[in-house]
Amino acid sequence: MIKINHNYKKLQASYLFSDIASRIAEFQKANPETEIIRLGIGDATRALPAACIEAMHRAVDEMGEDETFRGYGPEQGYEFLREKIAKYDYASRDADISAEEIFVSDGAKCDTGNFQELLAPDIRVAVPDPVYPVYVDTNVMAGRTGGFSHGRYENIIYMESTGENNYVPRPPENGADLIYLCFPNNPTGATITRQELEKWVEYARDNKALILYDAAYEAFIREDKIPRSIYEVEGAREVAVEFRSFSKTAGFTGTRCAFTVVPKNCRAFDEKGEPQMLHPMWNRRHSTKFNGVAYPVQRAAEAVYSPEGREQVKAIIADYMENAEIIRKEMENLGFSCSGGLHSPYIWVDAQTDSWELFDMLLKKAGVVCTPGAGFGRCGSTHIRLSAFNSRQNVERAMERIRKAVKEG
Ligand code: MLT
Repeated sequence: MIKINHNYKKLQASYLFSDIASRIAEFQKANPETEIIRLGIGDATRALPAACIEAMHRAVDEMGEDETFRGYGPEQGYEFLREKIAKYDYASRDADISAEEIFVSDGAKCDTGNFQELLAPDIRVAVPDPVYPVYVDTNVMAGRTGGFSHGRYENIIYMESTGENNYVPRPPENGADLIYLCFPNNPTGATITRQELEKWVEYARDNKALILYDAAYEAFIREDKIPRSIYEVEGAREVAVEFRSFSKTAGFTGTRCAFTVVPKNCRAFDEKGEPQMLHPMWNRRHSTKFNGVAYPVQRAAEAVYSPEGREQVKAIIADYMENAEIIRKEMENLGFSCSGGLHSPYIWVDAQTDSWELFDMLLKKAGVVCTPGAGFGRCGSTHIRLSAFNSRQNVERAMERIRKAVKEG
């Protein structure tokens, strides 16, 4: 008899953003005249930078000639891209990461979700609350949790991130083996200081733990002193894997390109307590289960690092960040306490009311989509997340509609 993976039964009915999409579709069907403005999922709305488009066109032309055609690419990604990443994202910040330690992939979501496959089923997993649901759901699928009750899974250590700790949790006292961190944070928009990050690295070293560091939003950091990579902290190479993406940086949400950094000396331990390097293990997994990112897409990603590409990306991000400022200011004027929006495209609004109720109210009365905080965990149950990914005009119209809806009650 064929049997299912019974862990799937523990999962909530659907993935947060699929759930939201079906609620929107249902509403739109019943109200076809309402023009909906989406400040929900963090999906880029600005076109790809011109430098990326030009590079992609050139690469497509190369694929059309026998002499320049390329078939299967190198499993870790083309060296031309990995060299640029190492130089511009890491060496420029004095972070010691080489091109051989970079794995090009099609998304940080897949990589943050898949990495746990390398680790034992009985490890203790710690996640922040609120949390990007992928970190939790993939551990549920792998059987590392018990059942779901009162908004939480058994056997997961939830590290509460609230206004009281500026949304930066402290290392747990009850010993975690695998720790997920995300800065700038999704959904709270919070950033971490170098000193705080040093404490996490120290914790991982002292406890023989591993940190999975999601830095998908680092491009939105606007102050030099805020760390962009965990490898800016000494000693992080042995204890941390980092995930990054071109999705939010350069609008690749539909084009797909990201990368994961696994330093050569990053370790976990075997059943005898002997250190085992994760780089060859991830390489083994990547080459077995992943087909690589299309050549024209890797050329487009490479163009992000060209002088024109860097300027164009800077301008796109600055535009989203002006949206973020407008949203945050407006929500604060309406009396809500907010975090994020300063070094992040997300504004985390403390609404002090049930987040799904507010989601429904904003959809029905304002025709605006937000993300209900409850979808990110118990600590988000009275928050909503607003995303700055939209046109200026839509953001201004959305804020006007929200103002009216909130004032009318
Ligand atoms: C979000 O809105 O949280 C992100 O778009 C989700 C993702 O990047 O997968």
